[in-house]
Amino acid sequence: MSDSVKPGEWIDTERGFISREIFVSPEVHRQELNKLFTRAWLFVGHESQVPKPGDFFQSRMGDESVILCRDKAMQLHVFLNSCRHRGMKVCRYDSGNTSLFTCPYHSWTYGLDGKLLGVPQFRELYQGTLDKDANSLVTVGRMHNYKGAVFATWDPGAPDFLTWLGGAVEHLDMVLDCRDGRPGGSEVIGVHKWIFPANWKFAAENFLGDTYHNISHRSVDLIGIGPSARAGATGRRDNEMDQAKHIWAGFPAGHGVHSAILPEGNEYIPSFLSDPIVEEYFRHCFYERRRRMGEKARMIPFTGNLFPNVSFHGRQPRNLCNWHPHSATETEGWRFFLVDADAPAEVKDFLRRYYMRYSGPAGMTEQDDMENWLYATAASKGSVARRYPFNYQQSLGKWEATGEGGSNAWQVSEQNPRNYYRVWAEYLKGSPWDVLVGGPQAKAAAE
Ligand code: FES
Ligand SMILES: [Fe+2]
Repeated sequence: MSDSVKPGEWIDTERGFISREIFVSPEVHRQELNKLFTRAWLFVGHESQVPKPGDFFQSRMGDESVILCRDKAMQLHVFLNSCRHRGMKVCRYDSGNTSLFTCPYHSWTYGLDGKLLGVPQFRELYQGTLDKDANSLVTVGRMHNYKGAVFATWDPGAPDFLTWLGGAVEHLDMVLDCRDGRPGGSEVIGVHKWIFPANWKFAAENFLGDTYHNISHRSVDLIGIGPSARAGATGRRDNEMDQAKHIWAGFPAGHGVHSAILPEGNEYIPSFLSDPIVEEYFRHCFYERRRRMGEKARMIPFTGNLFPNVSFHGRQPRNLCNWHPHSATETEGWRFFLVDADAPAEVKDFLRRYYMRYSGPAGMTEQDDMENWLYATAASKGSVARRYPFNYQQSLGKWEATGEGGSNAWQVSEQNPRNYYRVWAEYLKGSPWDVLVGGPQAKAAAE
């Protein structure tokens, strides 16, 4: 590791200070690509984006292009989108259907499982020296399809996906399950992609549960752009959040969520009064979910971030987001919008319009967030600004340790980002798996 990279010194989660270096330094960015994005589980895409044999979706892991692809036997694969000959992208389309990936440069040809199948003039020019198996496309170290969401890591030694997820699983479930509580069954109805000049961690941190920044959305709240067209934050989000007890939960692998627990015996709140079909759908889902899940149905999701760069909204708008790092000060955001696959067309259409109003480069709410992230990045680059760390002292000490090395906070809190950056430092030091359930640090924290 370079002498200029000092994760231990920069992250002081005991006192609540974090150096601005980690948000602006090109050297830190390089280390993140080398040590963090090559090891962590990353979200690649949703199986609903590749439903048929030969379907592919060009995705990213860190700064690298990858292909999510379904082969003829319906198996999913994730491999590096870079030819083994001279590195040309073997796929230049965002998505589509194919039977082969033929490299545009010299026409090496790969199968849907990434295997090298064809090499022009193979016998004459390579004289039996070229090992096709050894020159297949580079595949990920591990892959896991969780309720349709495909995650992958380059590290074959990474813990299995569910161990890494830990207790965050019940919060991710609320994103991926149908609104009526049936497991899975969601589909992606579109992906927003856009680039903004901010460090990627500003976006990730926002979803760890930065409820403190709600004032940023005051103008949106005043005009009532939510599904109900009511003014106020509840109108923007259209949910029962106002009545609920809120929880900010952190997990050993660095994940953090902001979810909420509804009061006992609460009833559905009409939210889509301008559209009777949509209103009826969500009313039905509310009571069906309660019937299926009982007391567990009182937990509802708001936002979360799976370490390092996979954020989600669990409710309205419902989506998974990737914050792809371009540089220390530039990020490409991808939002994968989710709906119940078997929802009526009217419901899907209503949600699609609402999602576009809320999120992405033209979304009224996300514009507010991005403005904060990009000015905060720009104003932290200067030599003087970099001498002064960011303050993370909010609700310091006001949280409970969970048995498995995580934390629960019951008031607006920066405990989740403190936990996140503690884990971030472990990746840069090279020992990220120690903090997981059963790892030495998790055991020490639980004692
Ligand atoms: S770079 Fe792909 S065949 Fe040469
Ligand atoms: Fe926000």
